[in-house]
Amino acid sequence: MGIYVITGATSGIGAKTASILKEQGHEVVNIDLKGGDINANLASKEGRAAAIDELHKRYPDGIDAMICNAGVSAANGSIPLIISLNYFGATEMAIGVRDLLEKRGGNCVVISSNTIAQGAARMDVVGMLNNQADEDRILDLVKDYDPATAHAFYAATKYALARWARRMSADWGARGVRVNAVAPGNVRTAMTDQLTDEMLVAVRALPVPTNYGGDPLMDPTEIANAIAFLSSPEARGINGVVLFVDGGTDALLHSEKVY
Ligand SMILES: NC(=O)c1ccc[n+]([C@@H]2O[C@H](COP(=O)([O-])OP(=O)(O)OC[C@H]3O[C@@H](n4cnc5c(N)ncnc54)[C@H](O)[C@@H]3O)[C@@H](O)[C@H]2O)c1
Repeated sequence: MGIYVITGATSGIGAKTASILKEQGHEVVNIDLKGGDINANLASKEGRAAAIDELHKRYPDGIDAMICNAGVSAANGSIPLIISLNYFGATEMAIGVRDLLEKRGGNCVVISSNTIAQGAARMDVVGMLNNQADEDRILDLVKDYDPATAHAFYAATKYALARWARRMSADWGARGVRVNAVAPGNVRTAMTDQLTDEMLVAVRALPVPTNYGGDPLMDPTEIANAIAFLSSPEARGINGVVLFVDGGTDALLHSEKVY
């Protein structure tokens, strides 16, 4: 059985993923702000460094999966937090444990979002995240933006995260480590509980071909199953994909894009 590290598994999608993996017999390590096996603030460089150190101490012979799930929504309104946690809290954690993943032929799954298909992402920020990746500089550049535009930064971090997974997959794959992304639609968790009335109107207006069986939000189990599959050895042929779990919204909006 494997050693699965997951961030943000105290609640929501992460908690459900952790419980599925535990039921499968795996050892699961939750890194979270609170209630984790390792408590750390992954929005800070110090928090990430401490968590990475701790994982090296506990698992010197390697880990099987790094699932980068912790994130905050635009409802939170803090653009710097969105940038630091959603993008750097995922990519820096994955990079920090790549050596541990290589030791056991492991894999990495990052949690993106189907907001990347909706045209709301600030592509200038996506470019800075992917190509510059200088957290301090980017935080300095975005510090004066109106928190009311946080949704465009949320979508930008999730777009950059999916692109990061695609970019890393060739190099990491050649070292035996798969890298994939899951892009969920709207899911019933603490995150969506925080949505404002205006945001809920936007959620309900989204075209979802399956209509999620008449429910505007999915259950976290639906996303957790996809994450558990992608991070399992059964998915060993899958590397560099962005798996949309969104009832077909991405396909509807981009039906001509077949790869
Ligand atoms: N819920 C949705 O509709 C939805 C849709 C698309 C993508 N997502 C993504 O799925 C992931 C999980 O979201 P969720 O809906 O389960 O949210 P959630 O709020 O239920 O869970 C987020 C978890 O991250 C942890 N966390 C928050 N700040 C942290 C920090 N600074 N350091 C460490 N941990 C921290 C929280 O304590 C919590 O356990 C996020 O990356 C989110 O962007 C969610």
